[in-house]
Amino acid sequence: MSKAEVLAVAKLHPFYRQALEAHYTVHDRSHELDPAGFEKLAPRLVGVAATGESLVPASLLQRLPAARVVSVFGVGYDGVDVAAAKTCGIPVTHTPGVLTEDVADLAIALVLSVARRLAQADGFVRAGRWLEGPIALGRKVSGARMGIVGMGRIGQAIAQRAQAFGMSIAYTARSAKPALPHPFFPDPASLAAASDFLVVITPGGAGTRHLIDAKVLAALGPHGFLINVARGSVVDEGALIEALREGGIAGAGLDVFADEPRVPQALLDMPQVVLTPHMASATTETRQAMADLAFANMQAGIEGRPLLTPVPEWTAQVAG
Ligand code: GLV
Repeated sequence: MSKAEVLAVAKLHPFYRQALEAHYTVHDRSHELDPAGFEKLAPRLVGVAATGESLVPASLLQRLPAARVVSVFGVGYDGVDVAAAKTCGIPVTHTPGVLTEDVADLAIALVLSVARRLAQADGFVRAGRWLEGPIALGRKVSGARMGIVGMGRIGQAIAQRAQAFGMSIAYTARSAKPALPHPFFPDPASLAAASDFLVVITPGGAGTRHLIDAKVLAALGPHGFLINVARGSVVDEGALIEALREGGIAGAGLDVFADEPRVPQALLDMPQVVLTPHMASATTETRQAMADLAFANMQAGIEGRPLLTPVPEWTAQVAG
């Protein structure tokens, strides 16, 4: 029996790709690389494999009459047109839970790196500049105020870690979470005004585009640091560069960017900024767990079994 066929809309992580290839014929970005051949292929595709950043627009979904699932390797799925998928009756799944700890760990690593100048300090020692005198002083992290933008699973894991540093926690989110002991602020600007470290971990997409704008950065102020482990789209990158250039904020730790993997030269040139290549979930253990879950969702979708982790919009549709 020939293998069922799935489309990979982006370059997949090898763990995910290998799991899929053991069971299915995987067509690698055929919709982009071979548009003519795709016409014939599309009606046979039963699944779509995507990454957290890849695009699955309505125009693609509408051409996949046999598709039974879009399985995203990642917790974020802002590139998938979920409304169109619902209309087409194609469920969308993602990989929440398994990467929570890693993303929270990296957020704290960025807090410590920017405040204690870790990247700068490493370069300082390697360049022999220690011989000339001490490095500039850093900012104390323990006891500082952390503001978290987005208080879902990962936001709460970040809060838990920050509390171990004696930091006070406050947050903003779509709505207050009465079960949490932390103060809620109605918007990012008021939260920023009460924070030393503003950590962004809210979903991407149209609803949060440029949520962190010039006004929020001004409220964070010249002693405040911005950490972004969410999506580049959530921060107005131009406004951020301007604020960093003018000393409007003290520094930034950024794992995500507006046009990845391209990073503006202005940011590359700034010593008060720590840059990482969208790697918050990039540990061997977590990437394996993500691959296992993404594959299990794909298989369940194709075989018509209950999905393990459908996106909340899909669960709401099925429940409603
Ligand atoms: C990564 O950015 C993810 O959404 O998992």
